[in-house]
Amino acid sequence: MTDAPVKDMKDIVALCKRRGFIFQASEIYGGINGFWDYGPLGTELKNNLRDAWWRDMVLCPPIGPDGQPVEIVGLDSAIIQNPQVWVASGHVGGFSDPMVDCKETKKRYRADHLNVIKASDAQWVAVNEGNEQEEVEKRFKKLNIKYDASYATVSLVDVDLKDYSKIIGPDAKEAGSLTEPKAFNLLFETKIGAVASEDSTAYLRGETAQGIFINYKNILDSARVKVPFGIAQVGKAFRNEVNPRNFIFRSREFEQMEMEWFCPPEDAPQWFEFWKEERRKWWKSVGLSDNDVIFREHDADELVFYSKGTFDIEYRFPFTAPGYGELEGIAYRGNYDLTQHQEHSGTKMEYIDPMDNKNRYIPHVIEPAAGLTRGVLAILCEAYTVDPSRPSGVYMNFTPAMAPKKAAILPLTAKGEHPEIATKLYLELRQHFAIDLDIKQNIGKRYARQDEIGTPYCFTIDDETVENGTVTVRERNTMAQERIHLDKVLAFLQEKING
Ligand code: GAP
Repeated sequence: MTDAPVKDMKDIVALCKRRGFIFQASEIYGGINGFWDYGPLGTELKNNLRDAWWRDMVLCPPIGPDGQPVEIVGLDSAIIQNPQVWVASGHVGGFSDPMVDCKETKKRYRADHLNVIKASDAQWVAVNEGNEQEEVEKRFKKLNIKYDASYATVSLVDVDLKDYSKIIGPDAKEAGSLTEPKAFNLLFETKIGAVASEDSTAYLRGETAQGIFINYKNILDSARVKVPFGIAQVGKAFRNEVNPRNFIFRSREFEQMEMEWFCPPEDAPQWFEFWKEERRKWWKSVGLSDNDVIFREHDADELVFYSKGTFDIEYRFPFTAPGYGELEGIAYRGNYDLTQHQEHSGTKMEYIDPMDNKNRYIPHVIEPAAGLTRGVLAILCEAYTVDPSRPSGVYMNFTPAMAPKKAAILPLTAKGEHPEIATKLYLELRQHFAIDLDIKQNIGKRYARQDEIGTPYCFTIDDETVENGTVTVRERNTMAQERIHLDKVLAFLQEKING
């Protein structure tokens, strides 16, 4: 058996543009770093992933560990909230700069306050921005590296991440100990009202989660839910990332799918295990190969101070391989968020057990927080399949549920009865599925396009259709063709797509 051909990000990005999945935002004006537009097929794919999550979390959530269905309700909160929300959550105030950690010394630095001095191509030394020449010389001496004042100096924020392995941290002995910069207050500011003043500052939400916490009480009081229960939300989040990169992997505007699971403190460990397993199974159900998905437990020094444990579900993206990149974090947040909002807003967040009035507590929270747009990228990377045996050289192996178009109707010729029959079939099928009707161009080119957009089935209308009412079905992965009767096309698709 030969190894599967390596997937090249350049090719995946090119296909996304060529076929209308994803475009650079503001491309005609030279683009804008960290922002992306989803084209016709990218929008369908993203909606498919979002809808699958909503169905599996809100409409048809899993059966809980006690054999009973769990209860999760939906929410769509405002992107802009009272700025106090972000003060309470810790996004504003506490941490607000791009920081790097040193894995060797465990020290943390502001990335924009570090300079990197390039002693040679392979030996770069980070020093604090304010260091006098004398201190710098001392530092070089300690490291046993020759110092020359003419060495090039750049700010750490201007160093490409791939070169981080060459950098010796400001207090470290070895190179490669600095983590990538992570900005804590990444919130985009905006002004509310016609007259901009300091008081009118508000923020675009940095995560969908806070909208859930601030509505916990409303939902508890209105939706007839009892702890344990969950609140789910899908939507845009905005972070002024220091280093947006890897196509849509790290963007400044992206979408999240978050669920906050509120439970009694003593049950939290069990629910944590439950959601970890459920979420891992879910990513498999949308088409990611088990071989490319792993769990990674956060080390104690990676945890935010209130977290009692976090697991990431990671995917082997072509640009991280052989390593992995985060798709979803599953965090045990204790009662930190509700307590913070209780303190800052003055609204009581206590839950009163309906069976026992004396049992009052602030629920603990398990949070499966997934990236929708990052999930789209994982699905695109997974589906991208190199196949030199077909004219397109590649096809997108989407699961039927994720495929932007479930089937294409292709009349062999653009005139006469073929397009007429094709249009009639299209009008019938589109009541049930996302269908593409593609009339022009030679049939080989049309098959190639459908392969590249990952359409599982193509139905071709030809002279035989006119004669005996049968059409050719071409299956995307095998390219095998068979003939079925026009009357059977809908049932065929229903069986193949819906299962
Ligand atoms: N409420 C918790 C929270 O927001 P997070 O790990 O910061 O946690 C959750 O974000 C998920 O959102 C990540 O696992 C990732 O998939 C996605 N995400 C975070 N930042 C992103 C960015 N800049 N671009 C694209 N997706 C991002």
